[in-house]
Amino acid sequence: MTREENDELTQVGPRTPGGELLRRYWHPIAVAAELTPERPKKRVRLLGEDLVIYRDPDGGYGLVAEQCLHRGASLYYGFLEDGGIRCPYHGWLYDKTGRCLEQPFEPAQSILRHTILLRAYPVEKVRGLLFAYLGPLPTPIIPPWDVIARGDGTRRIEIHPVLTCNWLQMQETNLDPTHNTFLHNKTAYVLGLRPDWTFRPISLEFEVIEWGVIKRRAFGGDNGYREEGHPAIFPNVLRHSSGWGPIDLHFRVPIDDTHTQTFWLGFDPSPDGSLLEESEDPPSTYIELKDEEGNFHMRSFPSQDSMAWETQGPVRDRSVEHLGAADKGVALWRQLLKENIEKVKRGEDPIGVIRDPDKYRIISFSASK
Ligand code: FES
Ligand SMILES: [Fe+2]
Repeated sequence: MTREENDELTQVGPRTPGGELLRRYWHPIAVAAELTPERPKKRVRLLGEDLVIYRDPDGGYGLVAEQCLHRGASLYYGFLEDGGIRCPYHGWLYDKTGRCLEQPFEPAQSILRHTILLRAYPVEKVRGLLFAYLGPLPTPIIPPWDVIARGDGTRRIEIHPVLTCNWLQMQETNLDPTHNTFLHNKTAYVLGLRPDWTFRPISLEFEVIEWGVIKRRAFGGDNGYREEGHPAIFPNVLRHSSGWGPIDLHFRVPIDDTHTQTFWLGFDPSPDGSLLEESEDPPSTYIELKDEEGNFHMRSFPSQDSMAWETQGPVRDRSVEHLGAADKGVALWRQLLKENIEKVKRGEDPIGVIRDPDKYRIISFSASK
């Protein structure tokens, strides 16, 4: 891979090829319960853009560029009133679509406010998470993944700390089943957390499906078997299922080229398949990855994975790496990214973009529950 190709796959900002691809998908950017009547605004950064998300007094959500178009003060300090957010500096008022409704010190007949449009993006609350869409309109739908759509269980949210690394380093792990043996199993064994570690797959298969890639691993020995791995959902999600029932979506949300935050949405099925009532805002947990000295504590999967992601550097230079046969899933994902970047350049939808809300009621993955 050349440096230029690496840039194309990893850059997330506006008008970059990778950024344009990522702008065809919804991304979770905050937990709805964080926005309360007392603290209704939050600064967020997504795909290299500084934004303010807010909950207005009637319960709707807005997401706008942080800097006012007048002279650039932060709308984070603004007032939520009169149908929008009002700049704290000179009072320009913007609605949720970015139109400027008032400029208190301009002449009544001025056309200035009609000539400007603040960047503003749609927000949707789904299962307690606020999703944003920064791409061209009309918006696609948020795919009804089973974790989101199923009614026979309850949900939970995990918020992981922002890591100083590019999103693709994180997603590539999802196409890399061999990392389990050392990064997870041996690490846990050395820490006394498990009795053995040498269990390793003897072969790896990857199949491209409508939503991304399904992995399969075969294990040898007397009790050899073949196992369906966790699907990687294009472009930046992992669907992780545990044998006993829980299913999690791990969203690797690109904040900018060198920062990424993971949000988990977990689903715990009811034991008997019954439909359960649950709160509109599932319980959320903030995860610690490091010890008090600032080192990864390595005692959990997320801490171990995050060590591997962050220590590759802010943006891994893939022009100097050495891929082997065991990296074929990683190579496949990069190929998918390139193909879909080209689709977006041609004006087509990349894979996984759904526009017809009636097409899928629920999206499951057959083999791995
Ligand atoms: S800087 Fe926002 S109104 Fe002047
Ligand atoms: Fe892992």
